[in-house]
Amino acid sequence: MLAGAGLSATALAKPTTVIAPAAPDDEPAWRAIQAEFDVDRSMVNLNNGGVSPSPRLVHEAMKTALDTTNLAPAHYLWGVLEPGVEAVRGDLALEANVSPDEIAITRNASESLQIVQLGLPLTAGDEVVVSNLDYPRMRTTWAQRAARDGVVVREVVLPTPLPDDATIVALFRAQITERTRLVHVTQVLHWTGGVLPVAALCALAREAGAFSLVDGAHAFGLLPSDLRAYGCDAYGTSLHKWLNAPIGAGMLFVRRERIEQIWPLQPADPSLVGNIRKFEEIGTHPAAMHDAIGAALVFHRMVGRERKLSRVQALRRRWVDGIAGVGGARVLTTDDPARSAALGTVSFPGVEPGALAARLWSERRIFVTPIVHPDFVCIRVTPGIQTSREEVDRFVTAIRELVPS
Ligand SMILES: Cc1ncc(COP(=O)(O)O)c(C=O)c1O
Repeated sequence: MLAGAGLSATALAKPTTVIAPAAPDDEPAWRAIQAEFDVDRSMVNLNNGGVSPSPRLVHEAMKTALDTTNLAPAHYLWGVLEPGVEAVRGDLALEANVSPDEIAITRNASESLQIVQLGLPLTAGDEVVVSNLDYPRMRTTWAQRAARDGVVVREVVLPTPLPDDATIVALFRAQITERTRLVHVTQVLHWTGGVLPVAALCALAREAGAFSLVDGAHAFGLLPSDLRAYGCDAYGTSLHKWLNAPIGAGMLFVRRERIEQIWPLQPADPSLVGNIRKFEEIGTHPAAMHDAIGAALVFHRMVGRERKLSRVQALRRRWVDGIAGVGGARVLTTDDPARSAALGTVSFPGVEPGALAARLWSERRIFVTPIVHPDFVCIRVTPGIQTSREEVDRFVTAIRELVPS
């Protein structure tokens, strides 16, 4: 059934019968969550960090919106579906505890962060503080800014595994000078899953009179989403990771007073200069993805952020315990629930991660991410909320059998 005039994709999202699980080991309830995802169970997908599947409710909302668009694109896209973006904006703002006028809907975290990285006025000699463990695309963006505008990029070198929060703050503080204009903080490191103390680092930027930009790609949907409490000037995230929204959905928060000074990536009408919507002026694009974010929020709240987090942490603990002692396994991710999210990483001395990942796939159909960084190598293992306990156990068995002890 397709949408009639005035119906948004979000309004068409089908109700679901899932009962929210009470605890991370409430297997019957988690099995009901797993059944909400039409995923390939002939493989074990332990790379839900790069991108995550959507539950049926969300996927159906997106497909319905795409079908509706195609009925008469100019009418349905702009007249019916596109206005739905305002409802989704309001809902995301509730989730992030900010005003709707501070939320832009983007295509991913890269776009959200690059809007600020490329749009903040900076001149030669102005400094930005980044870390060696920021996401490569974001580092490339700063490198381009350095090459084009003479911006100086000062790098904090974070050790792996991460030290305590006070040490992390001290390492950032050491790179701050009177020329610092921006501090770039990655909330959850994609390399190892380590979590940085965002509020303390944003406070440090504020003290220095600098802009604080948070990369929340791996945090939003799992870690607390109160952006006001973090005290950041801007926060960019993907929604196709831990909110399980359709692929191609992202969000940018910019604090109201900071919007005017940031140039949009694609020029917008001057009347929008102080309006967050200027960052959405990207030409013709599907409305389906952003309208289906509303359905993703419904599912997210039904399961519950804390429950999602404690479940993926429990799954991580299960595989970490299961492989303890195998081949000198060295886990690079802390088990502290306050300093970790879903990602977990492990290295085996003498074992090349690419070769291990290839064997896991070819011999067991288990999909993990090999990580090669100049300072460490490991495999990254990321269960999602749709991952079953048995799938994690298959990974443990495979490691026990494939890694020499
Ligand atoms: C820390 C971090 N930042 C930014 C990104 C970019 O996200 P996207 O590819 O969705 O734009 C990623 C992707 O994995 C990431 O891990």
